[in-house]
This record gives sequence, C-alpha cells and structure tokens, in this order.
Amino acid sequence: MSIRHFLRVPDLNKTDMEGLLSRTEEWKRRTRSDLLQGKTVALIFGKPSTRTRVSFSVGVHQLGAMPLYLSEQELQMRKSESVEDTARVLSRYVDGIVIRTFAQKDVEDLAANATVPVINALTDDDHPCQALADVFTLRERFGDTSGRKIVYLGDGNNVAASLAEAGALVGMDVCLSLPEGCDLPLGRMTAIKALADAEGTRFWVERDPEAAVSGASALYTDVWISMGQHQDAGKVSSLRPYQLNAALLAKARPDAVALHCLPAHRGEEITDEVMDGPRSAVFDQAENRLHVQKALMAHLIGGEPL
Ligand code: CP
Ligand code: NVA
Repeated sequence: MSIRHFLRVPDLNKTDMEGLLSRTEEWKRRTRSDLLQGKTVALIFGKPSTRTRVSFSVGVHQLGAMPLYLSEQELQMRKSESVEDTARVLSRYVDGIVIRTFAQKDVEDLAANATVPVINALTDDDHPCQALADVFTLRERFGDTSGRKIVYLGDGNNVAASLAEAGALVGMDVCLSLPEGCDLPLGRMTAIKALADAEGTRFWVERDPEAAVSGASALYTDVWISMGQHQDAGKVSSLRPYQLNAALLAKARPDAVALHCLPAHRGEEITDEVMDGPRSAVFDQAENRLHVQKALMAHLIGGEPL
C-alpha cells in the first residue's frame, strides 16, 4: 500500500501507520541521506509556525533536498490566482508541497490539482503530522499502545480530531473530555467513531475531566483558542476545569504521560509543573515531528516503501 498525498490521518490504514512508525524509528537514528538529492520541497505557510516550519525545513535538508519557504500572504494564491492553478504551477517546479492554511478544502483542492505529493501541515480541521508524532512518542514510551487509553482535555479542535484518528489506528481507546460548546462537529465525531469501531477501539466524550482521566496512560491538551479563532471569554471560562495540572495527572495511571502539541499557553490549558515535570513528553513530541515527517517525505517524495 502506498499513499499519494497526506491530507488527513485516515489517508493511512493501520498497516501504513505501522510501516510509517517503523520507518520513523529508522529515520530517527539516521540524520543524513541523499534520497531526495536535487529535489525541492515547497513549504507554504498561511499561519505562524515554529515546530512545523523548522522541522520540515531541516527534514527536507537532511534528506538532501532544498526547502523553499513560501509565505501564503506573499503568494498570488487566493488573491489573483486560484488554489487549483497554484497547484498546477508549483507542480512544474517542485517535487512536493507542504501547506499550512485555514480551510481543509483548500488543501484538498491543491492536492487534487497537483502532480506532486501534498502534505497537510495544519488546517482548521486537521493536524495529521502532529498526530503521527504523538502516536510515535507514545510508542517510544510504552512499546505497545494497544488497549491503552488516551484522554484529550480542552477544546475540540484540529489536534483533537487528528489525535483521535491516529489513536484508533494504533489500537488506543480515545476519550475527549470537553465542555459543552467545545465539541468537534457532529459529522466528524461520527466519522471518528466509525473508524474506532472498525479498528475495535473505543472513542467517546466524557464531560467530567476527573472521571475521564481514570485509567488513562496519556493526558493531552492544546491551546483553548486556535490560530484564526477569535478570543472568547465565555469559552475560556468553560475550559478552566479541563486544565492539565498535577492534581488531574495524579488521577491517571501512575505511568501516565502529559502531552501537548505546543505552543503551550502555560498557566491556561497546562501548568508549568506538568509541562516541566518528569511525566512530560512534550519536547519529545516536538522532536519527533522531524523524524516522522522525514519518514513521510521519504515515502511520498522519495518512493521509499512503507
Ligand atoms: N505543534 C505545531 O504544529 O507547532 P507550530 O505551530 O509551531 O508549527
Ligand atoms: N490547535 C492549534 C494547534 C497549533 C499547533 C491551532 O490550530 O492553533
């Protein structure tokens, strides 16, 4: 099985995911390669980024190719040229396109019209590369992830959705602990539940954070207001009981880890004590973005089998 683009986690099946995670282990031990020698990878960013921009730039360089950073604001795209024509033009110059933007549909339209692989580097709906790094980090910590429970606390956003999909593909039970008003869209919930059912895992919502974390091997949180969303004081106050703090972590399994995709708003969704504590895996997650994305690009752009 091979994939052409990586736009959402379910572009991978369970076998692809296993292949990608084992390739990632290899790429983590190997920094330099000439696999993509002479190639160029465009990195389009329409939202700010530290980890994604740097890990893709470094990863492309380590694979022997040239990263070409393009600020979406400075491109003609969506000003005097369509997403579709941008895809057609860029495909004549580069060997792969990584894009971070707002609408998932734009990434899908780009991929539908590109003749080179397209990788989603975050949209309002999805953050699939993050989710790959997250499950890889959990595998590193626990070995086998099957049957373990991960609880996502906070806002039902792009990170939560992609994490829930990736969790199902590595055999994890995924619980979302969110206040009312912060749920994922109903259609997305239904699709994730169907994926979990097909994989024989559980996926559910538990409003009470203390009940949610019982028996969990990992507690995950993300910012309460994502990029492009307006500040909403009511939403923030409803999210306060879902803060990932030491008291909540103490109610999970003794070996439970704390996860965050970063950037973190310390003192809001996560405390300093947890972020900087011995059970935090947040900087491993950040590092693993590099390794998992190299494995992904080696497959999509370099033709390496999964
Ligand atoms: N986690 C993540 O995608 O971080 P950046 O926004 O810094 O890329
Ligand atoms: N949910 C966050 C993730 C940032 C990496 C956002 O979309 O802003």
